[in-house]
Amino acid sequence: MQVIVKKDYAQISRLAAEMIADEVRKNPRCVLGLATGSTPLGTYAELIRMHKKEKLDFSQVVTFNLDEYVGLDPKHNQSYWYFMYKNLFKHINIRMENVHVPNGKAEDVDAFCAWYDAEIERFGGIDIQVLGIGGNGHIAFNEPGTAVFSRTGWVSLTKETIRDNARFFRKASDVPRYAISMGIGTILEARKILLLAHKESKASAIAASVDGPITANVPASALQLHADCTFIVDKPAAGKLNRKYGSTLKKLPRA
Ligand code: GLP
Repeated sequence: MQVIVKKDYAQISRLAAEMIADEVRKNPRCVLGLATGSTPLGTYAELIRMHKKEKLDFSQVVTFNLDEYVGLDPKHNQSYWYFMYKNLFKHINIRMENVHVPNGKAEDVDAFCAWYDAEIERFGGIDIQVLGIGGNGHIAFNEPGTAVFSRTGWVSLTKETIRDNARFFRKASDVPRYAISMGIGTILEARKILLLAHKESKASAIAASVDGPITANVPASALQLHADCTFIVDKPAAGKLNRKYGSTLKKLPRA
């Protein structure tokens, strides 16, 4: 895995957006894997700017989101569907029929999850998967203990994640206890992965994922198994790493 350490959040967001935009320009029908949470908001704002000012074209792009709370209607103001619509989709020229967010109201959740993985395959797999990371090392809603090769399925959220996400709800008891999450195995099938993290509160999770052993206890450590995974982090989030890293993508030295 590559690690890029940027000065601040604005630089993380710009680099991530540039990498995504490069893919969209190179392959207008690309399949993007998208994440929610506060971390990718800057990246989405930059993609919106590129769409408006530089005509970045999303008309043929297909997206798959990582996760959704079980029981929340897409119109609920804390659903991840609503989050994506408000913070990205409604500002760009993506076709809503090309957008996929797990259905938190699916009647048969297991059948839905199997369909979701099959649908990703039908579209040829994910070209770039964007990830944030939870304070406990979770990716999507794969909490510690999730099998490294898990498929999309329903998961129960840890107390820590419920507490972390309570800030978005009126009260902690409103936070759903279950979610649908893309599996770690599903995520690992993406051709390229970008994990974004900022702030000191992510430093332990980043260090455990990059320097620690691959373990189900730190779901993001499974990304060490991926051939093209880049962590883009700010200095505080890089604060507990074992080594120093540069601020640009690694390039072969000139001959
Ligand atoms: C939630 C999401 C994750 C996200 C995490 C971190 O749990 N399911 O996909 O990475 O929050 O959120 P934030 O970026 O707000 O720190």
